Amino acid sequence: MPQKASKQSTVTRVAIFASGAGSNAQKIIDYFRDHPSVRISLIVCNKPGAGVLGIAEREHIPVLLIEKETFFRGNGYVDELQAAGIDFVVLAGFLWKVPPTLTAAFPNRMVNIHPALLPRYGGKGMYGMHVHEAVIAAGEKESGITIHYVDNVYDNGDIVFQATCSIEPGDSPAALAAKIHELEHAHYPKIIEQVIVHLQNQR
Ligand code: GRF
Repeated sequence: MPQKASKQSTVTRVAIFASGAGSNAQKIIDYFRDHPSVRISLIVCNKPGAGVLGIAEREHIPVLLIEKETFFRGNGYVDELQAAGIDFVVLAGFLWKVPPTLTAAFPNRMVNIHPALLPRYGGKGMYGMHVHEAVIAAGEKESGITIHYVDNVYDNGDIVFQATCSIEPGDSPAALAAKIHELEHAHYPKIIEQVIVHLQNQR
């Protein structure tokens, strides 16, 4: 059940950044659909044709399609996000590194989910199936998810939450990916809510 923010009256407007299928984005949208103080207001995507764009269309959520030049060497789309009244950013399978202009605009107001137990199996090149392949190749007995704040170093910000799953002998990277997705879907929306409601209660 959505938690109620005790000391606030305004709504926090959230932008979800995603590059892929958007299954996490969908779960987050579903979770906050009737939320009293959190609204999913914008989908930001760097990939024309990505599945998440279809979700945005079906859900009638505005889309900001971004390109490299402006993102990395321009304003990082900070002006556009501010114009849309965005207060909080959720990265959900977003594959570009967030530039300092953008992290500076959302201090402690940007979270990411990583499909492994950071600080291991993070950093450059560690995304999607590459992560699960590396975890399996190392013979790990467990993996999991990490939800963390975003700062200027890849996969580095303070960790908010981790959950684990076991790896059985013979599990393929794809099988592990499925377990990880299940964990992500179960936890990410609730943790986002906790972080946002905590911010609202500090006002
Ligand atoms: C998730 O596993 C997320 O942790 C990773 O990319 C995947 C995105 O999946 N960074 P989806 O697009 O939400 O289905």
